[in-house]
Amino acid sequence: AADGAKQFSLDLLAGGRAEILPGLTTRTWGINGPYLGPTVRVNRGDRVRMAVTNRLGEVTTLHWHGMRLPARMDGGPHQTIEPGATWRPEWTIEQPAATTWFHPHLHGTTAMHVYRGLAGLLLIDDPDGPALPSTYGVDDLPLIIQDKRFGADGALNTGDVDGGTFGFLGNRILVNGTFGPSLEVRSELVRFRLLNASNARVYRVGFADGRRFQVIATDAGLLERPVTVERVKISPGERAEIVVRFTAGEEAVLDSRGEDPKRANDIEEEDFTLLKLVAAGALAESALLPDELGGVPAEPPPAGARRRRFVLTGSEINGNDMDMTRIDEVVPAGAHEIWEIHNTTYAHNFHIHEAPFRVLDINGTPPPAYQRGPKDTVFIPKNAKVRLAATFGAHIDPLSPYMYHCHILRHEDKGMVGQFVVV
Ligand code: C2O
Ligand code: CU
Ligand code: CU
Repeated sequence: AADGAKQFSLDLLAGGRAEILPGLTTRTWGINGPYLGPTVRVNRGDRVRMAVTNRLGEVTTLHWHGMRLPARMDGGPHQTIEPGATWRPEWTIEQPAATTWFHPHLHGTTAMHVYRGLAGLLLIDDPDGPALPSTYGVDDLPLIIQDKRFGADGALNTGDVDGGTFGFLGNRILVNGTFGPSLEVRSELVRFRLLNASNARVYRVGFADGRRFQVIATDAGLLERPVTVERVKISPGERAEIVVRFTAGEEAVLDSRGEDPKRANDIEEEDFTLLKLVAAGALAESALLPDELGGVPAEPPPAGARRRRFVLTGSEINGNDMDMTRIDEVVPAGAHEIWEIHNTTYAHNFHIHEAPFRVLDINGTPPPAYQRGPKDTVFIPKNAKVRLAATFGAHIDPLSPYMYHCHILRHEDKGMVGQFVVV
């Protein structure tokens, strides 16, 4: 554009066909293609201008999950796009490098629209950031993890999307829309950007051989230093960036393993193979990971920081269902607040639009080191109390709310959503 803005066109498409199970095709939805969307890549400081065209034949929205922007550009349930219409949000990228994503957010149909295939990645790069593996598709690979069910004819089964306690729980894992994926590794270090884009399932991602790897980023940006782990847990909407070392000629399996031998929890405890990896006979040399990643240190909330309390029940927050006409919280621009989430029931998670946060503690204990980076979504275990320190932005608009909600999409659609404005 004449003003230097980067422009992107995203067409939301229904009625595509994709071969997901071998030899069988299914109808799917997608963005600029039959299933999922393109990866949009922008730099910190860029002006971006989106043209989002709804070709679904029904109303939807497109939300920029993890993006700091004015509420009118956020793509939540108020920014509806009628069939055939084009929505043109624009904003400036004023946040650190991160793996963010986009998906529909219409109240009541988010689960179905995402399940059918509407989701994509929006990667923010920082030209002044540390040297990390960043050649897309070579040593910097997104892994969008989703669970699905298919009929015997290969058709995507949508029957359970709006039912049950947690909504949809699939028995087949797709990674980037592919069932049973494998990947040839060509460099010593590979960065995987994990996104849990499932409706309800939680994954504990690691390697079948128990190898350790480094976590370098949480949802909203880089950690200060790499953290070495065997597994990372990600609930719906969460991201983690990991860097894994391979040796020439070896094979490895990325998988998800439940933690509780009693298999007590429907959404956390199934085991899945995610991705088979085969390292080439000769691998391109990779620079060592830097010791300092440049991630922003956690800033302790100021003394006297405002506290707000959110009590989660089966599908309500503070006893309320989502009401598009009710503003639940009014937050001063730039506020640094403590949000206490008290879960009185089975597992949920909690996502805040626009405002990145740090997890202070879960039942009084700080989270594992790999979860201490900037986040926008957090798993809330059964009956747990979780405290978050959130930093709110400066986009004042008393009339346009942002959302906070459970990102288990069935719960979100049932009304486990609140609205806040920044004033
Ligand atoms: Cu990923 Cu309010 O959404
Ligand atoms: Cu969001
Ligand atoms: Cu929930």
